Amino acid sequence: MLRVGYPATIAAELFAGFPEGIELIPLSDRLDHEVDIDVWIPDPYPTRALRIVPRLHGVRLVLSLMAGTEWIPAAMGPHVTICNAHGAHNISTAEWTLSAILATLKYFPLYLDIQSSGEWKRRLEASAHYVRITGDMRPQYPPVMQEELTGKTVLLVGYGSIGKEIERMLFPFNVEFLRVARSARTEPEVHAVSELESLLPRADVIVLILPLTDESRGLIGRRQFELMRQGALLVNAARGPVVQTDALVAALNAGKIRAAVDVTDPEPLPPGHPLWSCPNLLLTPHVGGSSPQFAPRSIKTAEGELRRYIAGEPLKNVVQAAI
Ligand SMILES: NC(=O)c1ccc[n+]([C@@H]2O[C@H](COP(=O)([O-])OP(=O)(O)OC[C@H]3O[C@@H](n4cnc5c(N)ncnc54)[C@H](OP(=O)(O)O)[C@@H]3O)[C@@H](O)[C@H]2O)c1
Repeated sequence: MLRVGYPATIAAELFAGFPEGIELIPLSDRLDHEVDIDVWIPDPYPTRALRIVPRLHGVRLVLSLMAGTEWIPAAMGPHVTICNAHGAHNISTAEWTLSAILATLKYFPLYLDIQSSGEWKRRLEASAHYVRITGDMRPQYPPVMQEELTGKTVLLVGYGSIGKEIERMLFPFNVEFLRVARSARTEPEVHAVSELESLLPRADVIVLILPLTDESRGLIGRRQFELMRQGALLVNAARGPVVQTDALVAALNAGKIRAAVDVTDPEPLPPGHPLWSCPNLLLTPHVGGSSPQFAPRSIKTAEGELRRYIAGEPLKNVVQAAI
């Protein structure tokens, strides 16, 4: 009988649709004995999942509930097949991205601050902010209190499952899209990442939504910030190390760009880290993939892979094939 280990923190009833003839084994992240399993569904939090790796034996297939699986190959070795939950984060992460873009362009962080101070007159700070961050010195009357997304150019760096969902959600705003992936293609036009530097100066909003790999680590650094427009908005919904943190802090402190980040390097961001106090930054603590719909959706994805595995059919979301 196939033995499938899953995180004891997840309600067992969410696995009710799993095929019959398997044994489901709840695994505590405080596991204190050795366990033989064939299939492992790791805890979504890598630190909790990693804790029990030395206790697991016989694992042949890992079904991650997350899209990002960068920690698993090193932890499990090359003889294990690893699948991710491709698509399970699409909606929540794309909605986070849209919200982060709109919240920034609508100056919500400033208005929340004004709300807690209870001083209506402070709204004039918004027009000073507009001039400072965009460098637009033209006389404005009435004063500018927020900006529009409509008509802006959005550069999607990463045009996979989530990137396409972000595009779908942004579509009604009539933005112009520029798309970047590892390799170029057409219909729609996607540029190769080698063209990134020529595209950066054309973008008002740059969305990072690509995996962390050896190639993408540090992709956005000092030179890339220099190439961005004055006041461009960098949105990082991918992984913290895709951006060089020192360069991000410098670009924010210089007033060159604004940013909305769900992910940071290091993560968790320690108290007192310079990023916490950077101007023109909206920071959320890696919550983009979360929603009440996420666990049922990603477990359904894992269930599909498990059924294919049992039937001997090709798996859909393989990120590492066992050697
Ligand atoms: N903030 C959060 O909570 C959260 C939630 C979910 C996911 N994420 C992150 O989002 C990432 C993307 O998820 P996804 O489901 O959209 O992945 P996906 O479907 O695999 O798509 C990845 C896209 O990134 C492109 N890409 C890969 N390496 C690249 C590089 N070096 N330069 C430029 N483009 C590159 C790929 O190019 P090709 O099309 O040419 O292969 C593809 O278009 C995940 O890996 C995860 O790290 C974050």
